[in-house]
Amino acid sequence: MGFANGEGLHLVMTGAPGTGKGTQASVLKREFGLCHLSTGEMLREEVKKGSEIGNQLKDHLAAGGFAPDELMIRMVSARIEEADCQKGFILDGFPRTLEQAEVLAKMLKEKGIGLDAVIEIQVPDHIIIDRILGRYTCMTCGESYSDKYHKPKVPGVCDICGGTKFSRRLDDTKETIERRLKKYRDFTYPTIAYYQEKGLLRSIDGNGTVDVVAKRIDEALKIK
Ligand code: AP5
Ligand code: MG
Repeated sequence: MGFANGEGLHLVMTGAPGTGKGTQASVLKREFGLCHLSTGEMLREEVKKGSEIGNQLKDHLAAGGFAPDELMIRMVSARIEEADCQKGFILDGFPRTLEQAEVLAKMLKEKGIGLDAVIEIQVPDHIIIDRILGRYTCMTCGESYSDKYHKPKVPGVCDICGGTKFSRRLDDTKETIERRLKKYRDFTYPTIAYYQEKGLLRSIDGNGTVDVVAKRIDEALKIK
């Protein structure tokens, strides 16, 4: 493959909740100037704004349910047309169902874009649960931190934007994580075989520090 500078890179970042998709997408975004499209983040924005969609989905999302395929497809299709995505993108948490994967393939074909790789991050469930229960997020830029594993360099100050306000997600509860893990296995896992068949899948061991996992992803993409 050999992406010398990441220009024109079009990636999907997949894996169960809490495996580090957002954290690693943020590393790639900074490294290569790609746009980072987290469908979970887009939905949380709608809830925060109190839009009609946000109000309709708030309780469902907090309980670990999925948003409708049609809505997610519409949001992603519009977002990848925007100026900051023209150098390439990282789709984080999309596609989450086979239906979304199939529509994405058609949508990208129509736009003349080819996916370069699908990065699947793998982490055992007990580590996922531990990570999610300790997660907090910068309210200014959305960077994720962890009480135990991935702390800001200066306590209480975001490494990326210097923000000092943090929040915890409504869906990061023990009960909801189990529901999200089950939804991942039932609906998202089938997309792994779909991408393996297309020769796009790069499965990465996500157990290790953020830097170690980032190096594994770089190697899998043969960027360096
Ligand atoms: P989304 O926001 O995508 O949530 P998710 O898939 O459950 O994944 P997370 O964001 O929880 O985890 P992550 O893999 O990004 O991990 P992170 O980097 O934060 O979606 C939320 C909800 O929206 C879904 O449940 C669904 O309802 C809905 N939705 C979204 N997209 C949809 C779609 N396409 N269709 C339908 N519905 C959709 O890391 C986790 C923690 O671990 C952090 O604290 C981090 O600091 C820490 N950490 C990260 N890497 C490491 C490391 N290497 N070592 C130690 N700690 C680490
Ligand atoms: Mg995330």
